[in-house]
Amino acid sequence: MHWYEDDGFWSDFSETMFSERRRAETADVVAHSPLLEFPAHSRVLDLCCGPGLYLVPLAGRGYTVTGVDLSAEMLKRARTVCETAAPEVRLVRADMLTHVEPASYDVVLNVFTSFGYFDDPQDNFRVLTNARDSLVPGGQLLIDVMGKEVLAGWIGRPQLVELDGAYVVQRDTVLDDWTRLRTDWTLVRDGIAREASITSFVYSAAELRALFEAAGFTDVECFGGFDGEPYDQHARRLIVRGTKPRR
Ligand SMILES: C[S@@+](CC[C@H](N)C(=O)[O-])C[C@H]1O[C@@H](n2cnc3c(N)ncnc32)[C@H](O)[C@@H]1O
Repeated sequence: MHWYEDDGFWSDFSETMFSERRRAETADVVAHSPLLEFPAHSRVLDLCCGPGLYLVPLAGRGYTVTGVDLSAEMLKRARTVCETAAPEVRLVRADMLTHVEPASYDVVLNVFTSFGYFDDPQDNFRVLTNARDSLVPGGQLLIDVMGKEVLAGWIGRPQLVELDGAYVVQRDTVLDDWTRLRTDWTLVRDGIAREASITSFVYSAAELRALFEAAGFTDVECFGGFDGEPYDQHARRLIVRGTKPRR
């Protein structure tokens, strides 16, 4: 089993990735981000939606929202959250490697570093062509990752995250001349350590832009955060947006 297929990994480390604080911050980001401003009733696919941090606020902006994720456990959590706050949200269990709904969406989102998971670069590229095929002409794909340039600013120092009654140590190792990144996580709770190691591709803005263009997207732009700020020395994220041509 590949690391990204392991429900236990997403569950065990969920407090660091999907905290209530992040859920509240995400709701605020989604409500105000100019990058997430689409016409009313736009059909939005949240690809790799996890436990649904974006789903409810996206529905709150008046969009018709679908969440796709491979993890049954993450989808269960997303269902629980949506049940009361946004029951109209559609949830689908599927693999981004194969998931295509031809010409069904105005927007495809892939956020919080949910791209670059596959060992074969062609498989990661296929996620882009799948997204293109799921979009209507004129539709947008937006991918949010930690850009290589941003990572270079702080990588190397272990990160410590304190949780309620537990803590997580995260150590990053650059592999293959800055092609991929291995992150080793250790969760310590009640004196018991749970370890996990994940490896994924990392992209510079130029590399991800080139992949978008090779997949047939036009008007490709890079941003440094959801406020639409430039991807420069102040960037916190790498957000790449492209449009499926109308022809
Ligand atoms: C880092 S989390 C991000 C979740 C969510 N986008 C967020 O902002 O919280 C990545 C998610 O991708 C899902 N995932 C991993 N591999 C996948 C695949 N091959 N197809 C679909 N989803 C996948 C995981 O189950 C997890 O929920």
